[in-house]
Amino acid sequence: MEWDAKQYNTTHDFVFKYGASLLTLLPQKIKTVLDIGCGTGELTNQIAQLGHKVTGIDQSINMINQAKKSHPNLNFLQEDILNPSDQLEMYDIAFSNAVFHWIPDQELLLKNISELLNENGQLICEFGAMGNVQSIRQAFGRELNGLGLVFEEPFCFTSVEDYRVLLEKNHFDVVEILEYERPTPLKGGRVGLRSWMEQFYSTELGNLSEEQKERVLKNLERDLTPRLWKDDHWEADYRRLRIKAVKL
Ligand SMILES: C[S@@+](CC[C@H](N)C(=O)[O-])C[C@H]1O[C@@H](n2cnc3c(N)ncnc32)[C@H](O)[C@@H]1O
Repeated sequence: MEWDAKQYNTTHDFVFKYGASLLTLLPQKIKTVLDIGCGTGELTNQIAQLGHKVTGIDQSINMINQAKKSHPNLNFLQEDILNPSDQLEMYDIAFSNAVFHWIPDQELLLKNISELLNENGQLICEFGAMGNVQSIRQAFGRELNGLGLVFEEPFCFTSVEDYRVLLEKNHFDVVEILEYERPTPLKGGRVGLRSWMEQFYSTELGNLSEEQKERVLKNLERDLTPRLWKDDHWEADYRRLRIKAVKL
């Protein structure tokens, strides 16, 4: 899917604002860092401000263009981590916030990251854990099934246990792996949930007619109000996995 970089930077800036706490896992010593799925480059910029030599990569041209526009002095490349080109070098740290759950082939992802890391290189990342935005996903699945459609989950949300096995199988030593709940307020008051849906389920909503889409979003708002509406905003039921691992 292609991203709306402006909408991402304004309405969904919570993604990199929460992601900033992941920077505390970076070492003090200056390192070369690959920011995988850098989006609009806001965290890439913060990594650079810490003194590291960072390259941001993203498969989305909209995101990369916005990143270059916002941070013209930094190095950004349009790259798919599942098919990296030889423009990429070797790095001390692979950093990534809110990206891995978009990638179905986790084995290939970890293999490619390992190949781009120097000896003893570190992987520092965070992404959606099993059960992430569960109530929204279940309600959306019910709505699509009600229309006679199959809901194919685009995200890969993993448990601590499964991801530890996957990391070890791909020759990473796990230093830290943490799963936590992160209830996330959405911007925009009443329209916050539909604008979140339009950003993160754009492909699935794009397959519906305008009439179907409107009905699905209205039903979601009705069904999720008791659980996720908090006085004047929606609060999405995010769960995250945070990982620090070293290449063996
Ligand atoms: C939710 S955004 C997170 C952006 C940024 N890391 C941040 O914290 O703001 C997810 C990003 O991952 C990128 N992405 C997804 N799959 C990718 C892949 N295979 N290779 C490179 N980037 C990818 C998307 O294009 C998108 O910009």
